[in-house]
Amino acid sequence: MTTTLAIGQPTNRVDGRHKVTGGAHYSADMLLGSMAYAVLVGARVPSGRITGIDTDEARQAGGVLAILTHENLPRIAAQPPLIPSLAGMPAPGQTFFPLQDEVVHYAGQPVAVVVADTLERAQHAGALLRVSYEETPSVTTIDQGREEAYEPEAIFAGFVPGRNTRGDVDAGLAQADVRIDATYTFAANNHNPIEPSATTAAWDGDQLTLHDATQGVAATQLTVAALLGLTPSKVRVLSHYVGGSFGCKAMIWAHPALAALAARRVGRPVRLALTREQMFTSVGHREEQEQRITLGADKEGRLTALRHHKLSPTSHFDDWAEPSLGVASQIYACKNYEGIYRLIRANTMTPTFMRAPGEASGMFALESTMDDLAHQLGIDPVELRLRNYSDTDPNTGNPWSSSGLRECYQRGAERFGWQRRNPEPRSHRDGNRLIGYGMATAGYPVYGPNNPQRARARLYADGTAVVQAATPDFGTGVATVMTQVTADALGLPVERCRFEGGDTTLPTIAAAVGSSGAGMISAAVHTAASNLRDQLIAQAVTDTQSPLHGADPGAVTVRDGRMMLRDAPETGESYGDLLHRNFLPDVEAAGSWSPSPQSTRYGMMTFGAQFAEVAVDPDLGVARVRRMVGAFAPGRVLNAKTARSQLMGGMLWGLGQALLEANFMDPRRGRWVASSLGDYLVPVNADAPEVEIDLIEVADDVVNPLGVKGVGEVGQVGAAAAIANAIHHATGRRIRKLPITIEDLL
Ligand code: MOS
Repeated sequence: MTTTLAIGQPTNRVDGRHKVTGGAHYSADMLLGSMAYAVLVGARVPSGRITGIDTDEARQAGGVLAILTHENLPRIAAQPPLIPSLAGMPAPGQTFFPLQDEVVHYAGQPVAVVVADTLERAQHAGALLRVSYEETPSVTTIDQGREEAYEPEAIFAGFVPGRNTRGDVDAGLAQADVRIDATYTFAANNHNPIEPSATTAAWDGDQLTLHDATQGVAATQLTVAALLGLTPSKVRVLSHYVGGSFGCKAMIWAHPALAALAARRVGRPVRLALTREQMFTSVGHREEQEQRITLGADKEGRLTALRHHKLSPTSHFDDWAEPSLGVASQIYACKNYEGIYRLIRANTMTPTFMRAPGEASGMFALESTMDDLAHQLGIDPVELRLRNYSDTDPNTGNPWSSSGLRECYQRGAERFGWQRRNPEPRSHRDGNRLIGYGMATAGYPVYGPNNPQRARARLYADGTAVVQAATPDFGTGVATVMTQVTADALGLPVERCRFEGGDTTLPTIAAAVGSSGAGMISAAVHTAASNLRDQLIAQAVTDTQSPLHGADPGAVTVRDGRMMLRDAPETGESYGDLLHRNFLPDVEAAGSWSPSPQSTRYGMMTFGAQFAEVAVDPDLGVARVRRMVGAFAPGRVLNAKTARSQLMGGMLWGLGQALLEANFMDPRRGRWVASSLGDYLVPVNADAPEVEIDLIEVADDVVNPLGVKGVGEVGQVGAAAAIANAIHHATGRRIRKLPITIEDLL
């Protein structure tokens, strides 16, 4: 008996039609009765204190309902560092709550919330506020703070230690035949999802409902409950549609709690939507950084030592750096390693997760240096990577749960036509354009949640099923792939399955961060739907009126909603018949999943290989990416279309990282130079080359029941390095800064 599985099919997005026809209602689209509108007013200075807020003029403006400042906003109930939200840890950006005192830590920090009966009136009144400051000197760049850098105990919300060493790097460097010492610099990056962050808050007595654009409804619920001193059961968070996030909606910043406080103050539902400009100062960013790599290798290119140091600014209240030294410490066999983070206290808000947080920058530095090594030794860059391939996670010595990296190199190289590459720089031309081929390794860890993930599945007597889990779909396609997972577990056609999420009243799922969503949510959904199927089969075999009465449950399978004996398919009945006969409108089962203890004995990583072709105009310094090929081994692919879309998006984001995306602090004013999509460049269709993706499915029975390793971030890792390496091949110039701009290539 053959059955076509729903898993793996390129099923169209179940929410696609709603999204393109306006049927999808986002958090700032919620229209509640007698709604009021709140705007944030941000500090104009980067450092100092507020000496006075003159609200007279604003108060007299039409329609103003309330002006909240540090002078009249109640103190929050919990000290932010104690708030558990993301995986139960204090989260960056939550260790500071604004409007509690007169101190200004960064430009854009909220100093007032103005509420009015229309958005325009709130904005107008906000402009009439007269805030005076006593400004003190600020530090907003690496260059300003270099001398005061310190080594933190831990970074990344406490998840990652500030230092990681193995072996003896000095000895490894001493025995090396070749040594390379290179420093890479990175401009800051900002998140620009199509939907800016927004919260609509409504109170019903002491019950709070928030419509919030978030990666995790439970994270918003727990954070806001703690800040307001409420029990979580009094806070319901809904997030049915989220227009992208890329990490900026993972942490719970101040605006959801401020919206709730404003709604309580005015006794009406309140909508608080961040402006595009406020997205640059209110939801974290990828920090400016400097990374120095010192690498030693023998004549055959085998690494003998790797030292990787990172220096970056953080806020005044969090020790945050994206973990740039993670995958770069694990991807190659190298006995002697030292990774150290150093931080600078700066007048910015806390940086945060941004797609491929850490790996996007760290692997740029490592993979550029590896290309340098290949060039200096005259070894093919792919061959150099193969010589340094590691069967184990070098940090722990544990074997990979699955790899596929060698196949990624091989299949990516074949698909790209790597063998056509003459290793000599400046040897390929197309007219006056210099053509270059470059490659890099990609890798992203498989993170498992540290708390159980839950889902619930219900089958109705009409033979349709709904599966529920609290997770929002922030654009990844999770709602679509979970219907596929449900269909296979229940033995139903995918059209008869539906996913519901984005609501804290549904079974709890952790915030989908670090490419963990598909793996952990599918595990919970698969478990719930399998439990439901087993329950229905158990009911059939004990039902004296069922054709399956007395059968061994293990001998029963389900196809198209019909339970039948595997060896005698003519014996069986449909779920619907069983339910109707027993007067059951529906049957429901819950499922819960936690990573297996054996997973701690493995290294878990999604691997890939990136290839890029560039054309550089030597007269104008313009680099264009002509082709990108990525080969990835993400474990099991749940949906070929959404997985490809994720990977393609990541690769194009890597193109943006390589050539376009940048923000800079103006050190005189302590403010970002770019504060809108007009000044902050992201790739558009005209920049997008042909992107080819090869999916290499490698079985993995360690990571989760379906062997899903995640595709959200790995597509970006190595993409910028492949492009920079292609630019070196085209021009002979090694550019050690991102983004690479026209000035760098003239
Ligand atoms: Mo993702 S950048 O870890 O939310």
